[in-house]
Amino acid sequence: MTVESVQPQTPATPGTSALREPPLAQGALPFLGHGLRLVRDPLAFMSALRDHGDVVRLKLGPKTVYAVTTPELTGALALNPDFKIDGPLWESLEGLLGKEGVATANGPRHRRQRRTIQPAFRLDAIPGYGPVMEEEAHALTERWRPGETIDCTSESFRVAVRIAARCLLRGEYMDERAERLSADLATVFRGMYRRMVIPLGPLYRLPFPANREFNRALADLHLLVDEIVAERRASGQRPDDLLTALLEAKDDNGDPIGEQEIHDQVVAILTPGSETVASTVMWLLQVLAEHPEHAEKVRTEVESVTGGRPVGFEHVRSLTHTNNVVVEAMRLRPAVWILTRRAVTDTALGDYRIPAGADIVYSPYAIQRDDRSYDRHLDFDPDRWLPERAKDVPKYAMSPFSVGNRKCPSDHFSMTQLSLITAAVSAKYRFEPAEGSDDTTRVGITLRPHNLLLRARPW
Ligand code: HEM
Repeated sequence: MTVESVQPQTPATPGTSALREPPLAQGALPFLGHGLRLVRDPLAFMSALRDHGDVVRLKLGPKTVYAVTTPELTGALALNPDFKIDGPLWESLEGLLGKEGVATANGPRHRRQRRTIQPAFRLDAIPGYGPVMEEEAHALTERWRPGETIDCTSESFRVAVRIAARCLLRGEYMDERAERLSADLATVFRGMYRRMVIPLGPLYRLPFPANREFNRALADLHLLVDEIVAERRASGQRPDDLLTALLEAKDDNGDPIGEQEIHDQVVAILTPGSETVASTVMWLLQVLAEHPEHAEKVRTEVESVTGGRPVGFEHVRSLTHTNNVVVEAMRLRPAVWILTRRAVTDTALGDYRIPAGADIVYSPYAIQRDDRSYDRHLDFDPDRWLPERAKDVPKYAMSPFSVGNRKCPSDHFSMTQLSLITAAVSAKYRFEPAEGSDDTTRVGITLRPHNLLLRARPW
């Protein structure tokens, strides 16, 4: 089972007659609306919304936001050109991602940028990344000493950043930069999330330590990207990689794209790529510790597929249970747990009227944990992705990489490295929680454990 095999065919077409206004979700407070509940426990709040309707209105202070709660309508939303990338999530990310990169651009610029980056992520490009992915997955296990406490946050960031940077930007030198990038990203994503849910505007410009730390990390991230671009140019080399494709990209008039766009493109690829994969690796380590029976099953599978040799790229396709562990971990803890869109015109979702300019929000976390889509919905059950059971999963109920024109370009790239990392660490170690570990869910721009500390024990 892969995430791909539960991808959908066609969405529901919104009706045009007899459209209704979506109901207001219950529990709005005077002035604050639903804001307090959303800030206090966003996952529980988003997960409860389907009980109020397929599309519901939320009041966030004076603002109305529309939440979509069914798998079918999230698919319709993602596939409908009446909705573009915009809204509070994207506005809060703009300081990081810029306005000219692929993750935030819309319209013709976005289509042109997708054409530039797509070849680096195509299925037939992935084997070329195999050796780096293998090397990094094994390097991770070689750094760990039996019985020593592993700080899973920094280790997961490290492997994610190194794989993205080495595969897509062909950086030598990545060690020092990977550490810098990891530390900067952790600070920046924390600050971005705070700015999104508590929009206090000018207060974030005051010289408080947290604001200074945020500004320093953001500036260093942009500096790092400038260094990477400048070094490649100075080297005079043009390897066949994503960075070369970005440096040589042309705009719609056939002119070279500007410096700002090159910069924003590198940031827009490297940063979402690192944060999402790192969070997922943390959850994978967490499930291996929490479910020793699956850790053992993964180890046995890896051994039987590899015949006891180090696991490699060529084995990934045969690692059925390992892949299913990855998919199931992503179902319960999707790195990207919330997404927003903005309606560009008066339009419809299902039977509901959506006015031009409306912000729409939905949560892959809520969708992927819904008991209307999954039996024993909260159980960690990788076998639900065996073909005979996966066919019962409703369309769009498992789309951690989204669908449509904004679908993550990196689904194959990500799934391959996640399976390889899971296989490599499980072949060598079993895991148990170390003192001080806190695997409760930390909600930020992505979901990850608060502070996962594990001990690796050889089998
Ligand atoms: C977009 C998830 C890894 C680069 C997205 C979107 C999702 C997503 C859900 C769509 C956002 C939307 O619909 O608004 C994930 C997950 C990952 C992952 C769950 C890993 C577990 C990566 C990696 C890279 C990457 C490794 C690059 C190295 C991007 C880019 C976009 C994107 C550039 C923007 C695409 C566009 O707007 O056209 N990702 N992603 N992602 N992702 Fe990923």
